[in-house]
Amino acid sequence: MINEVQEILINESEIQEKVKYLAEQINKDYAGKDIVLMIILKGSVVFSADLMRYLNVNVSLDFMQVSSYGSSSVSGELKILKDGQIDVNGKNVIIAEDIIDSGNTLSALVKLLKKRGANVEICTLLSKPARRETQVDVKYEGFEIPDEFVVGYGMDYDERFRNLPYIGILKREVYGG
Ligand code: PRP
Ligand code: MN
Ligand code: MG
Repeated sequence: MINEVQEILINESEIQEKVKYLAEQINKDYAGKDIVLMIILKGSVVFSADLMRYLNVNVSLDFMQVSSYGSSSVSGELKILKDGQIDVNGKNVIIAEDIIDSGNTLSALVKLLKKRGANVEICTLLSKPARRETQVDVKYEGFEIPDEFVVGYGMDYDERFRNLPYIGILKREVYGG
């Protein structure tokens, strides 16, 4: 464990077990169907890379990078930093996210993809319900976690720690919380 991490919240084998479980649900629900796995940069790349290898339905990959305009703004305000390439009209889109905090990013993104004609569901590894500001319907959820600053397995603090193979709680002194 690296020095900036206070404790490991979810270790590698616990993550893999859960990712496999999520994939099995998707495999069951979409058996014989095609899906577009919409990977939300950057945090979701590690989770998505593992998740897709457990999927046995027809998967296409696409990537978006978005950010919501902050907590006080109206939900639905979405800044698209990078848009997807696939025409999602009439497609089954599963958004892969690492974590849902306020829910602002995802609720706006779901709205947008539905407006584009997609059939949208969310698959998130983590959810932090204590921080929710906008309600979102999540079909596939890995772990509910406490209101701690988590890093690793794709998640960053100031662009660091995404490469850690586990999910750790960042020491307060690192982010000055
Ligand atoms: C984080 C996380 C989610 C989003 C959740 O991404 O990966 O995408 O915030 O926040 P919300 O539920 O409050 O909207 P971030 O914007 O930090 O970008 P990153 O994935 O590139 O780190
Ligand atoms: Mn993100
Ligand atoms: Mg981030």
